[in-house]
Amino acid sequence: REPYIVTGKGYTAVAINAAAKAGEFIKSRQGQIKEVGTKASAQDLVTEVDKGVEQMVRRLVMTHYPHHAFLGEESVEPGTPLADFARREAEKNEYLWVVDPVDGTVNFVHGFPFYCVSIALYIKGELSVGIIYDPIRDEMFVAEKGKGAYRHGIKTRVSAERKLDDSLLAVGFPPDRVHAQPANLAGLQALLPKVRSVRAAGSAALHLAYVAAGRVSGYCEFGLSPWDCAAGVLMVTESGGTVTEISGAPYTIGSRNIAATNGLIHDELLTTLRESGAAGE
Ligand code: IPD
Ligand code: CA
Ligand code: CA
Ligand code: CA
Repeated sequence: REPYIVTGKGYTAVAINAAAKAGEFIKSRQGQIKEVGTKASAQDLVTEVDKGVEQMVRRLVMTHYPHHAFLGEESVEPGTPLADFARREAEKNEYLWVVDPVDGTVNFVHGFPFYCVSIALYIKGELSVGIIYDPIRDEMFVAEKGKGAYRHGIKTRVSAERKLDDSLLAVGFPPDRVHAQPANLAGLQALLPKVRSVRAAGSAALHLAYVAAGRVSGYCEFGLSPWDCAAGVLMVTESGGTVTEISGAPYTIGSRNIAATNGLIHDELLTTLRESGAAGE
């Protein structure tokens, strides 16, 4: 099967082609990883493929737009205060690409076929383009500010469930066991009894794409990073859904605790998390 390549110019075409090439490459390395290293903790993995794909995407984008800025997960020094750093980057650069080369590295390392490439473009501080590519299922999700979101050319739309009771939710467990894990566990404990069921498949970006496509009605996670969310957030909002911080505050590039839903169950989800104490004060 040929990779999903589009013709034409412009940021979206460049991002789609970069994601398609990167995705093909990741898939070709499945089962052949040479180096598995760790970052902030023993659960925080990085492989030569994460690093190689980030360079590949950077090169593909920079060939077209040499003056644009690039924020990629594997180029950020561990320990950088992420929220402030990302906000400053988006303020000082007219064009900022935010890239997660492999979202779902733990899955990739274990051969669990659920991971993706996530590429977003901020223009003048506004989230303008979002691409998520799942090379295993060959699914290309594309969102453009004001123009909607698409899966292989077909408009995506969030689900229609009105209550948690009828909803399938997604959650996630980042490697940070100190701060994020207790909050995510408390959230899971509060939500699970109220919903149809919960999935935690290990890729924040794909979970957001699945909210956009109506495959789950909502997704929430404490402890995310800008590159996990940027593309997916645009995809959800352009598909008719709602994204905020779990506190209810508006989403920004510096947001770490995210709730994304079909809009209809948003208040119930936030209230449940707040009442359980998971959301903090
Ligand atoms: C992680 C995945 C995971 C989520 C973590 C992310 P990575 O990204 O999206 O599902 O729970 O919060 O850090 O490290 O595989 O790119
Ligand atoms: Ca990572
Ligand atoms: Ca990620
Ligand atoms: Ca990653």
